[in-house]
Amino acid sequence: MDLYLNGEIVDEQRATVSVNDRAFLFGDGVYEVLRASRGRLFEPERHWRRLRGGLDELRIGSGVMEEHDLPAVVHRLLERNGLTAGDALVYVQVTRGVAPRAHQFPPTTTPRTVLVSTSGFMPKRSERSTGVEVITHPDLRWARCDIKSVNLLPNVLAAQAAAARGAFEAVLLRDGMVTEGSRSSVFAMVNGTLRTHPANERILHGITRAVVLELAGQAGVPVREEGVSMAELAAASEIFLAGTTADVMPVTSLEGVPVGSGEPGDITRQLGAALDARMAAAFDAAPARE
Ligand SMILES: Cc1ncc(COP(=O)(O)O)c(C=O)c1O
Repeated sequence: MDLYLNGEIVDEQRATVSVNDRAFLFGDGVYEVLRASRGRLFEPERHWRRLRGGLDELRIGSGVMEEHDLPAVVHRLLERNGLTAGDALVYVQVTRGVAPRAHQFPPTTTPRTVLVSTSGFMPKRSERSTGVEVITHPDLRWARCDIKSVNLLPNVLAAQAAAARGAFEAVLLRDGMVTEGSRSSVFAMVNGTLRTHPANERILHGITRAVVLELAGQAGVPVREEGVSMAELAAASEIFLAGTTADVMPVTSLEGVPVGSGEPGDITRQLGAALDARMAAAFDAAPARE
């Protein structure tokens, strides 16, 4: 596969980044993961807006997005890698660039490191039809989880704890409340209301989360953006994850205990189908270049 690195399209086997890259030394960068199908992107404006927000928040500067014309790069790469017929994932990472190791920022003129890569993707159909198991894990992250930083060590540790127990995802708990998953948003049906953590600094503002909230509103499902306690999660009639790679993923087992009937719940199925329809419409209708 070819990828885009700092203005050039190169074979991924040959692409190299300096050991003095700020992301290598400090995790000083942000990233995005977008879903593509038939060469078209799902909710690209929302992903670009979130990336822009992270770059500005960290003072890396969002001008880099225009300098590199990221949407055009993505389409070029999808074509180049033969990924315009099926499903694909797009990975975008921007770091503060290469500079001798010192904690404080290098000069603002330091060229940013910009990476875009693409890969084929298989939607998780069988997991979505059966549902998955999750474990809980302490949320060890910093106080700005809304920034999609490449500092993912707490997420990595939580995901590994889940994998070690054969679970699909780790649901993170902070102060006894569910925040989100290691790489997904978490929703629960609690006493007939669909609940998810408010979009503040304790969670990533998931794109799929936002779409699911819209779909739930349209479907007349009562929704509240309000934290879910561990006790409420354990008593929830339905739980699901939402994310760019998970779609709407039913959770049928929490720490080995069945959730509700132990089958994917009705609201979960309904919202999963609504998300699929929304994606299908986006992939059919969107212009080939966003
Ligand atoms: C911590 C975290 N929460 C939520 C999500 C889901 O976000 P999105 O729907 O934008 O993919 C992700 C995706 O990577 C994530 O890493």
